[in-house]
Amino acid sequence: MQVNNIPYRTIWPDPEDNKTIRIIDQRHLPHEFVEEELTCLDDFVIAIKDMHVRGAGLIGATAGFGMYSAISGMEGNMDPAHISHAAEALKRARPTASNLAWAVDRQLAAILDQPVEKWPDIAFITACAIADEDAEYCRRIGEHGKKIIADICAKKNGEPVNILTHCNAGWLAFVDYGSATAPIYAAHAAGVPVHVWVDETRPWLQGANLTAWELAEEKVPHTLIADNTGGHLMQHGLVDLVIVGTDRTTYTGDVANKIGTYLKALAARDNGVPFYVALPSSTFDWELRDGVQEIPIEKRSGKEITQISGKTEEGAIGSIRIAPENTDTANYGFDVTPARLVTGLITERGITAAEEQAILTMFPEKKSSI
Ligand code: MRU
Repeated sequence: MQVNNIPYRTIWPDPEDNKTIRIIDQRHLPHEFVEEELTCLDDFVIAIKDMHVRGAGLIGATAGFGMYSAISGMEGNMDPAHISHAAEALKRARPTASNLAWAVDRQLAAILDQPVEKWPDIAFITACAIADEDAEYCRRIGEHGKKIIADICAKKNGEPVNILTHCNAGWLAFVDYGSATAPIYAAHAAGVPVHVWVDETRPWLQGANLTAWELAEEKVPHTLIADNTGGHLMQHGLVDLVIVGTDRTTYTGDVANKIGTYLKALAARDNGVPFYVALPSSTFDWELRDGVQEIPIEKRSGKEITQISGKTEEGAIGSIRIAPENTDTANYGFDVTPARLVTGLITERGITAAEEQAILTMFPEKKSSI
């Protein structure tokens, strides 16, 4: 997608030296655009854990390149114990997004039966394939999802379609296009009028900092709202459609996504607003049946709630405390929306009901793993 009219991906190998992987350090957006170089396993683990990169697809792509970096860093001295250590360190970096373990396991499956001298080349090719596939699958999600938006627009006699989204499941959360935003970008490019309600997404503010920024770069009309506004907008007919992303979705259709998503789904159901979830197949968890009970939910530092960072009128960037000192905190990163509240899942293969049989009909090759 575009940054200052220049096409960018969120992660890419340095064209001069493919042992250096470049990312956009998202902690600085929207105030500064900072690129960072990742050159060793620790760089990748820190980038994921401390959210220089975030979002399910991008976490997976970063883990893929992280495995390549760990392997190429061994320089001829290939040690399977070191590979296992790298795989575990990456998998531990964040718990909820399934793309992380999926990408690491895909790297392990690609190299382990091959001669060790081929491992660096195979790992590089696999990391690039994971990233390219993520971008292509998101592009396809856009093509499928834009029909939903176009249909609503036709029913509204060409009036703009008001879409509410939560957090950032935009191109910054993937390698390109995004999941929830891909249908929006595709509809916008096709001339279907859209307007996006952007939840600010406390406490990390992915909506205010990232979604608002990328929609502005793509010139998509949008309005930032406080997190608790969505229900009111839905009651007053100001939301035609909700589209969110997901960090992990069970094969039964339960959806883990940024904390607060469940409340949006409840409000959507109460007001008859369609609630869609967009995801590439790498975000499905083919082992978990009950999302509420089984999906691991990340808990992060309470500082993310007691402090807030931003830019002052004078241009200084920093954090300030907003809660009394020593306040107890509970900072849950995600919640689970049960499948019964989900209108449909928009995947790279098409749109399916959030229901086991329908999902397995769309992905029949997974039947044997369940
Ligand atoms: O904590 P994050 O920023 O990594 O959370 C991920 C998200 O941005 C959302 O939950 C998103 O909607 C799904 S990721 C495609």
